[in-house]
Amino acid sequence: MNLTIIGCGYVGLVTGVCLAELGHIVTCVDHNAEKIAMLSLGKSPIYEPGLDALMEKNMSAGRLRFTLNLAQAVSEADVVMIAVGTPPDAANKGKADLSAVFKAAQSIAPALRAHTVVVTKSTVPVGTGKQIKSIIERTNPQSTCDVASNPEFLREGSAIADFMSPDRIVIGVERDAAAHILADLYHPLTNQGFALLRTDLETAEMIKYASNSFLATKIAFINEMADICEQVGANVEQVAKGMGMDARIGEKFLQPGPGFGGSCFPKDAMALAQLAHENNVEPAILNSVIHYNLGRRASMAARVMDACAGSVQGKNIAVLGLTFKANTDDMRESASLAIIPALMAAGVHIHTYDPQGMANAKELLKGDIIWSASALDALTKADACVIVTEWQEFRELDWAHAREQMHQPLIIDLRNLFAPDDMAKLGFDYYSIGRKPALRQAVQNKTISAA
Ligand SMILES: NC(=O)c1ccc[n+]([C@@H]2O[C@H](COP(=O)([O-])OP(=O)(O)OC[C@H]3O[C@@H](n4cnc5c(N)ncnc54)[C@H](O)[C@@H]3O)[C@@H](O)[C@H]2O)c1
Repeated sequence: MNLTIIGCGYVGLVTGVCLAELGHIVTCVDHNAEKIAMLSLGKSPIYEPGLDALMEKNMSAGRLRFTLNLAQAVSEADVVMIAVGTPPDAANKGKADLSAVFKAAQSIAPALRAHTVVVTKSTVPVGTGKQIKSIIERTNPQSTCDVASNPEFLREGSAIADFMSPDRIVIGVERDAAAHILADLYHPLTNQGFALLRTDLETAEMIKYASNSFLATKIAFINEMADICEQVGANVEQVAKGMGMDARIGEKFLQPGPGFGGSCFPKDAMALAQLAHENNVEPAILNSVIHYNLGRRASMAARVMDACAGSVQGKNIAVLGLTFKANTDDMRESASLAIIPALMAAGVHIHTYDPQGMANAKELLKGDIIWSASALDALTKADACVIVTEWQEFRELDWAHAREQMHQPLIIDLRNLFAPDDMAKLGFDYYSIGRKPALRQAVQNKTISAA
């Protein structure tokens, strides 16, 4: 099948590469000339594990190419997928900004051939598919194309595995003809037993928002449990484990942390809340999840200051991790964007390191920041360490050696990477989320009284 994808971002590029790997002939289009030039040389503009190798394999096999020429790519396609961004519109209470989607629909309309299916991969509010159809009909009255919704559920950092082994493939269609074409497109996956759910357009669009909003709710919930655990002396990791053993609850998305970020959860929760509001539903649960999460991210810097006994003026603090999660270079809505400026405003000298996110972070974080070459570099002479992102590299660091390099042995771990007692035994004062702090003095006292 000939496929054209509009938008070569995290979703469009991964989708294009994976569909080529499944045997289709894929043309990926973007209006960013620099991006297309880089992609045409076989270089991915984003960091996603495994993507470069799969891209190269499918380009060499002649199944994958990149172009700026949207009209030609669309005119040759059986299926056109729209995978452009739908960022929150700040001026409109986080309502999804659909200008890129509508612009893409307008550009593809004149070039569409008779039975093309135009699929929305972007996350869009309910009703957008129908709006896309009317844009295409207005722009090209001869068009007899179908529109469909095929929301994407991949997670950055494990995007290829998520695409190739999906929990479900959702297709929202108006007619059987479109359903058959999309069933053929995904046959290499359904053939292996992966489930495909067919719905109408509106339901497919809603499934994506409901799924992301539910996952965001799970994260906000466990963070609130962590707040309570800290006050009552319980251990949130064990609480999450005990909850997750209940099959009705499940263990995933119960990791406490600095609040959810990334390009999807904050924006999709806000967009769904706005959609509800416009349709006369006041989404009380969603509203409080959004409100709680904003407050949580904003409160993380105060947590660091508290651990530093209230005074951080003039201190050197190592911030390990900048991206919103590990295994991506994506900085969108990362907790580091709230924490670092707040610490700088309090007079902290920031030394920071991230394995993949430094280039993107430099565009967003301005001021007197020291961009270190390694985690150890950032920690050298530091008065405290704040762990913001759960990179494996930080778990594997030689912390005994790091302890010797630091000026003060203080860690504020916002990702609960370590067992508190292990860190205290290494000589750290260790503060984490939803667990009692572990202090080196307490360990020393225990050792003395045992002797
Ligand atoms: N990032 C994720 O993890 C993820 C997961 C599931 C769904 N989604 C959804 O997928 C959509 C895309 O997200 P993303 O993270 O890939 O966005 P992105 O910002 O990384 O990429 C969008 C790309 O589209 C290009 N583009 C915009 N308008 C264009 C046009 N008219 N013609 C050609 N190219 C155009 C941009 O240059 C950019 O390269 C969003 O709706 C998002 O909510 C994202």
